[in-house]
Amino acid sequence: MAGGQTGVAAYLRRHRLLYGDTLFLPGGAPMPGVPSTPDNPAEPGQLLAFHRKIENCQNCALGASRNKFVFGVGDPHADLVLVGEAPGAEEDRLGEPFVGRSGKLLDTILKAIGLSRQSVFILNVLKCRPPDNRDPLPSEVAECEPYLQEQLRLIQPKLIVALGRVAAQTLLKVKDSLKDMRAQTYTYSGIEVRVTYHPAALLRNPNFKAPAWEDFKAIRDRYLELTKGGPSA
Ligand code: URA
Repeated sequence: MAGGQTGVAAYLRRHRLLYGDTLFLPGGAPMPGVPSTPDNPAEPGQLLAFHRKIENCQNCALGASRNKFVFGVGDPHADLVLVGEAPGAEEDRLGEPFVGRSGKLLDTILKAIGLSRQSVFILNVLKCRPPDNRDPLPSEVAECEPYLQEQLRLIQPKLIVALGRVAAQTLLKVKDSLKDMRAQTYTYSGIEVRVTYHPAALLRNPNFKAPAWEDFKAIRDRYLELTKGGPSA
């Protein structure tokens, strides 16, 4: 009973962060801006407004230990979104995802497939750094996931790339191994999802670089198909 009440309280707190004081109930009026689809894209500035709304989040203990809230970076209407795990030390210092060693490698990979940080959107499952870069706790993922969901709803990419196990399992709600997930194409709210290695795994184990390159070539080809070779809107 108490657990149920706690769950309802947490739901209402998240709902308030996303939608303010107006309560939207199933079967009632549609939530503001829902659905954001390719035919009905989010208004310019909505992602920025959402950033402003959540950047002081204190829903979990990471709010107290962070230096900077790391919302994400890139084109708010990008056709490709890359999802990482959580900010590390450099990201926490600068407030931007993937700016440390993993980020430099990600930049190189993006360049090799004809993209850049500016032409995609890069974000993480967690917006705040876990101490000592430990794995995110399930409770932290649960608190932060509505932010990821809302970001993806506003951006409406054509393709999502999950970088590593935490991103893949959070988005896809599967417990499969990374090897199995890399071999498949998934969908998330109608958006195609590909899974590949986290750049940090490539730094730790160079043997992963060749298969990762195969993944990214397939990602590039699919991106070009989905966008008909054109740039993001
Ligand atoms: N690793 C991540 O998953 N995200 C970052 O932003 C940096 C490192």
